[in-house]
Amino acid sequence: MVIIMETLALEMIKYYAGDIKRINHFIKVHGYAKAIGEAEGLSEREQSILEAAAYVHDIGIKVSEQKYGSSAGHYQEIEGPSEAERLLADLGYDAELISRVSYLVGHHHTYSDIDGIDYQILVEADFLVNINEDNMDAAAIKSVRERIFKTKSGMEMLDNLYKTELGK
Ligand SMILES: [Fe+2]
Repeated sequence: MVIIMETLALEMIKYYAGDIKRINHFIKVHGYAKAIGEAEGLSEREQSILEAAAYVHDIGIKVSEQKYGSSAGHYQEIEGPSEAERLLADLGYDAELISRVSYLVGHHHTYSDIDGIDYQILVEADFLVNINEDNMDAAAIKSVRERIFKTKSGMEMLDNLYKTELGK
C-alpha cells in the first residue's frame, strides 16, 4: 500500500487547527526524522512507519489537556495511542503499521527500552526540535548527546544545530 504522507500532514494540521506551536513542532520533527531515516538507509516500510509516527507522536497532548488539564508525558502515553489508531485507521493505513505507530506514540518519552531504528530516530528528531523549543542549556544538550543519540546522521545534525552550545 502506498502511503500518502501529505494526507496525514493535512489531517494532523486539521487536528491541531489554530495551535500553530504544536503544528510547527510536528512538521519540524517529521522533517528531521525523514532526513535521518533516509540517511540511515531505512527500508521503505520502516521509513513509512517513522514518518507517520513523527507526524502523530504528540497527538495525545490535545486529549490530555482537555481531560486532565495537563500535557504531562504520563497522560499522553495513556491518551495518545488510541487517538493515533483512530486517525490512522480512518485514513486507511494497515493494521501492522497502525500497531507499531501507536506503540511509538505511547513510548516516545521512554528512553530506556528503545527497541528499533524507527523508535531511535523518532526520539532523536524530537530532541533536535525540543532542545531549541525548550531552551535547553549546554549541559543538558551534552547529556542528551551522550545518553540518547546513536545514529551517525542524528548525531551530526545535533552537533551542527547546537554547534555553539556544544563548543564544537
Ligand atoms: Fe514532540
